Amino acid sequence: MLKTIVQPLLAWYEENKRELPWRKEKNPYYIWVSEIMLQQTRVEAARPYFERFIVQLPTVEALAKCPEERLLKLWEGLGYYNRVRNMQKAARCVMEEYDGRLPADAAALKRLPGIGDYTAGAIASITWDLPVPAVDGNVLRIWARLTASYDDILRQSVKQRAVKELAAIMPKEGSGNLNQAFMDLGSSLCVPKGQAGCERCPLAFACEACKKGLIAELPVRKKPVPRRLEAYTVLIIRDGSRVAFRRRSGEGLLAGLYEFPNLQGHAAGEDVLAFLREQGLEPLYIERLEPAKHIFSHIEWRMEGYLVRVAALEDGQAGDWIFADIQTAEREYPLPAAFSAYTSYINIRLGPAGPGKEDD
Ligand code: ADE
Repeated sequence: MLKTIVQPLLAWYEENKRELPWRKEKNPYYIWVSEIMLQQTRVEAARPYFERFIVQLPTVEALAKCPEERLLKLWEGLGYYNRVRNMQKAARCVMEEYDGRLPADAAALKRLPGIGDYTAGAIASITWDLPVPAVDGNVLRIWARLTASYDDILRQSVKQRAVKELAAIMPKEGSGNLNQAFMDLGSSLCVPKGQAGCERCPLAFACEACKKGLIAELPVRKKPVPRRLEAYTVLIIRDGSRVAFRRRSGEGLLAGLYEFPNLQGHAAGEDVLAFLREQGLEPLYIERLEPAKHIFSHIEWRMEGYLVRVAALEDGQAGDWIFADIQTAEREYPLPAAFSAYTSYINIRLGPAGPGKEDD
């Protein structure tokens, strides 16, 4: 029962909490800046950056107005410069939409650029004591050990389960302290690998991994398998007002859906023309289109495309290709979103108004 850890963890935090510059007062702007810095830097390294940043840009308004070069200079050495650029974008939204005050609402915070579940939870709980969890890698490690879970904490579904279970134990008062207690426990005692200080841990009594001797094994973090890259040349073939489609095989990726005819690999214009002639078509005009990519869970398509006009066909068939007008295609042919970069060339709408939505 995770609930049993709340009071001991809060008591431990009272005794052991670290003195940190962003903890001196509950200013949401300070908490926000510190959390963004701490996504990429250890607490001790972030401290001087934080202090300088807050002296030079003490308010959301100052951040919103700061010239970019000065902003990047203040971030110099921290890396991930897009994070501070996003912070400035968000500061400008806060000026426009919230009169310069960060909204005391995790969902509203999450709508701001660069603020995800974790940062929204941290700001909302630490500043206003709203009962929302702030689950980062450290908290996931603690959760996996407490529950002796062998599930891969890098998987989104596992993270969602942890968030749900931790949301359920957030106290009406003290959620900010509880979240910070997790952060401090994760960096002092419940540290990765075999170094954990279980003998001093206030949660050892409830920790399944500690009781079963599994601390060194947990959490499980499987490296994501790299996506396989596949190259295609997508052909938008028109004869007058009709466009060529074909049905994909009934098995495998996007089974049974429709697609534009395509070639494996990235083909040159002449190869495309030769291929079309082999199909019995008479190409009249060819134009290269923008490349596009589509990401599935395990595969990434890298596509190049051509728009080709061919001489009109009598019966609208060429091998297994069907030439159809756009309205028929929109109504009857489920076309995967993977081709959405190319449907725009022929004004086909995908999604609820057009063919079915799918993914792998
Ligand atoms: N790590 C990430 N956020 C933190 C915070 N607010 N305090 C201490 N450590 C942290």
